[in-house]
Amino acid sequence: MPPSLSASHPTLVVSRNASAVPLPGGAVKLEKHLDTPRPSNKRRMLFLTLGVAGAVIFMGFLAAFLPVYFTVIRKPTSSSIASGSATPSPSSTTSSSSSTSTGTASPTSSSAPAPMTGGDGSVITLSDGSTFTYRNAFGGYWVDDPTNPYNNSARAQSFTPALSEPWNYSLDQIRGVNLGGWLVLEPYIVPALFEKYQNVTASAALPGGQAVDEWTLSVAMRNDTSGSGGIEQIEEHYRTFITERDFAEIAGAGLSWVRLPVPYWVIETWDDEPFLAKTAWNYVLLAFKWARKYGLRVFLELHTVPGSQNGFDGSGRLGTVNFLNGYMGIANAQRTMDYIRYIVEFISQKEYEDVVPMFGIVNEPLLEVIGRDQLTRFYLQAHDMIRNITGIGKGPYIAIHDGFQGTVSWKDFVPGSDRIMLDTHPSVFGPGALVSNLDFPLSFWASVGCIAYSNNQSQYDFGVTISGKFSGAINSCGKWVLGVGQNSTSVDCDVWDDWRNWTQPMKDGIKAFVMSQMDSMVLPGYFFWTWKVGNSSVTGKVEAPFWSYKLGLDNGWIPSDPRDALGTCASLGYPQDLPWNGTYKPWQTGGTGAGTIASTALASFSQYPPPSLSNVNGADPTQLPMYTATSVVPTLSTPVFASATVTEGDGWADAADTSLAVVQVAGCVYPDAWGPPAGSTAVVCSGPTATISTSIAVTQAAYGIT
Ligand SMILES: *[C@@H]1O[C@H](CO)[C@@H](O)[C@H](O)[C@H]1NC(C)=O
Ligand SMILES: *[C@@H]1O[C@H](CO)[C@@H](O)[C@H](O)[C@H]1NC(C)=O
Ligand SMILES: *[C@@H]1O[C@H](CO)[C@@H](O)[C@H](O)[C@H]1NC(C)=O
Ligand SMILES: *[C@@H]1O[C@H](CO)[C@@H](O)[C@H](O)[C@H]1NC(C)=O
Ligand SMILES: *[C@@H]1O[C@H](CO)[C@@H](O)[C@H](O)[C@H]1NC(C)=O
Ligand SMILES: *[C@@H]1O[C@H](CO)[C@@H](O)[C@H](O)[C@H]1NC(C)=O
Ligand SMILES: *[C@@H]1O[C@H](CO)[C@@H](O)[C@H](O)[C@H]1NC(C)=O
Ligand SMILES: *[C@@H]1O[C@H](CO)[C@@H](O)[C@H](O)[C@H]1NC(C)=O
Ligand SMILES: *[C@@H]1O[C@H](CO)[C@@H](O)[C@H](O)[C@H]1NC(C)=O
Ligand SMILES: *[C@@H]1O[C@H](CO)[C@@H](O)[C@H](O)[C@H]1NC(C)=O
Repeated sequence: MPPSLSASHPTLVVSRNASAVPLPGGAVKLEKHLDTPRPSNKRRMLFLTLGVAGAVIFMGFLAAFLPVYFTVIRKPTSSSIASGSATPSPSSTTSSSSSTSTGTASPTSSSAPAPMTGGDGSVITLSDGSTFTYRNAFGGYWVDDPTNPYNNSARAQSFTPALSEPWNYSLDQIRGVNLGGWLVLEPYIVPALFEKYQNVTASAALPGGQAVDEWTLSVAMRNDTSGSGGIEQIEEHYRTFITERDFAEIAGAGLSWVRLPVPYWVIETWDDEPFLAKTAWNYVLLAFKWARKYGLRVFLELHTVPGSQNGFDGSGRLGTVNFLNGYMGIANAQRTMDYIRYIVEFISQKEYEDVVPMFGIVNEPLLEVIGRDQLTRFYLQAHDMIRNITGIGKGPYIAIHDGFQGTVSWKDFVPGSDRIMLDTHPSVFGPGALVSNLDFPLSFWASVGCIAYSNNQSQYDFGVTISGKFSGAINSCGKWVLGVGQNSTSVDCDVWDDWRNWTQPMKDGIKAFVMSQMDSMVLPGYFFWTWKVGNSSVTGKVEAPFWSYKLGLDNGWIPSDPRDALGTCASLGYPQDLPWNGTYKPWQTGGTGAGTIASTALASFSQYPPPSLSNVNGADPTQLPMYTATSVVPTLSTPVFASATVTEGDGWADAADTSLAVVQVAGCVYPDAWGPPAGSTAVVCSGPTATISTSIAVTQAAYGIT
């Protein structure tokens, strides 16, 4: 049961004089970003400007230098109008929109609705009456059991464990796709939503009259009072972009997992945050339901956090990093920790643990800005909080992202922790960025994947290590892949962006690139980014084709059986130089020793909040603005099953977890949690537990985004 408001409020601290202006920093932050590349961009530019001549030399040194020169995609880049629990109630409140299906009814008592199941060729009828045929050449079958909505008998493929069976990370390969762009909107994945708002009346909240991230998109939609305007457009997108049919097709494509990015605003929004609050949660519940029906496992991941963890557009707001960084860094981290807690409370319920065996706590935090020490402490704190809820050896794997530092630097991370897994995103713009002609041999593309993408050593050094994001992108082409209005300058993109005209050698090259990555990430596995890319409203077609699994599947550059990737590297003359022997240490998979954290790690990282924070001009983190845990916990709704005879959990696995939710300390004026405007002065609230003698001049530069 979620905790309720307790009578014992902690002593309140504070009062401050900084002004909290609605949507104040947007213009500043946006301009800063667009004008001035962040450090990561500089690296990328260096890489891209090596030029064609460099490509030849580069190839010779590929093996030696690849890890150095490759750089991840850094797309720099949330709330609510309603605050707290008073959020708009979503139009679809039930997540159990039922569908019936004509498969084989299992024999049951004549009065109860029969559990339905079916394999290849069976017909599924959706709640709107439409039908489709389930295609699965891999021996998978779906299960739709009206009397038991938690029936975990479905199996995605014959070679994949049913949900009711254990997953062995040494043996069972994860072949997954992301459901990017569904519940977290990104311009290059769903361009049509953004294209509509590229030329509207500019305002402080909408600099340039342009939607560049979900924040500005939400502002623009809310301000659009025309018949086709309004924030409801986002729910229409949720309703149509990914549907039950996609889950069926994912299983039919030979895939066994989905990685599901969710925004923090599935829970709530605060103050001026313009995002559509809570509604997406109903679709998360639908995703769980459909995953269960088609035998898919879900790697759920928190893709956006308050203040932004990386400043990328996919974090909800393009601009600065205010999570665990800068003046509001601790406060935003407090709020984030709460959101992690609520989600873990939900997915750790027995009804969900088999369907959601993995939870990514913060997607792609920008370590180079936040700092390794700070991030490590947050990760350990989150681990302890989560395992307090689930118990040791139980509950989801906790996925942490490598912060774009590669896997090597995470060697020996917190020994004795309980099932922390490392999520690395080897999405790179390959050497294709260096060339303008298309004549590289297949073996060239394959070599990139075979050499650069192996996680094998990390299975020994860290423990379970997966690739949560990779793609077919051999260069940075694709509309808005680098952000709204940003073009790749390295290649002639016209030829790459119009996938209808790709020649067979082009398709073969991309396929070789994809398959070589799959082969080198064979165990424990990978997640392609992303299942689907939406059409541009301008051209009526996909404009970022490298990133769509479905498009590649339909048009020949994604293998129709992902198992075909096995052996790609060896067959092209890139034998595995590092075969992993398939054995984790017992503690790394929740066995003996898990939960007994090495004393050296405790000594180094257990103090939290961190003793120092980046970009606060040396201020003591304990004296920075903080929230206080005095509010009622916002609850996540549970599904309603009309005909079910089973009892539904209350959304909260651990009744002993009665901590309250953080809120602003009454009477205290906080700086903008998304980045104090340049030149403003923040004075921390003064009181018995938090005082600071001098005011802190908040400048943009202090955030490391110069
Ligand atoms: C789940 O559904 C399958 C397929 O209809 C059925 O055989 C099985 O008995 C059900 N299992 C449970 C636990 O209800
Ligand atoms: C997982 O698979 C490996 C490799 O086959 C095997 O050694 C190990 O015993 C299995 N673990 C479990 C828990 O079954
Ligand atoms: C933007 O809107 C203005 C005013 O409505 C119009 O004059 C201009 O042509 C538009 N620009 C584009 C690129 O659509
Ligand atoms: C909303 O649109 C009007 C013009 O239609 C404009 O004056 C106002 O600044 C806009 N508000 C925001 C928050 O963008
Ligand atoms: C976990 O529980 C222990 C014991 O109840 C408590 O001392 C500790 O503060 C908790 N840790 C976190 C991070 O919640
Ligand atoms: C980016 O490319 C598109 C399509 O070719 C073009 O319309 C647009 O003007 C370019 N933008 C910039 C900033 O170069
Ligand atoms: C691709 O082919 C279509 C016709 O099928 C043509 O209209 C278009 O211009 C071509 N695109 C490029 C980049 O050549
Ligand atoms: C995109 O447009 C094509 C036609 O160009 C259509 O076949 C396809 O269904 C559309 N995709 C989506 C997701 O609407
Ligand atoms: C990694 O190890 C697995 C398991 O031993 C092996 O099948 C695979 O080929 C290895 N990959 C590389 C790139 O060495
Ligand atoms: C796998 O390699 C590790 C590290 O070298 C070693 O400790 C372990 O014993 C090996 N396991 C097997 C089954 O060979």
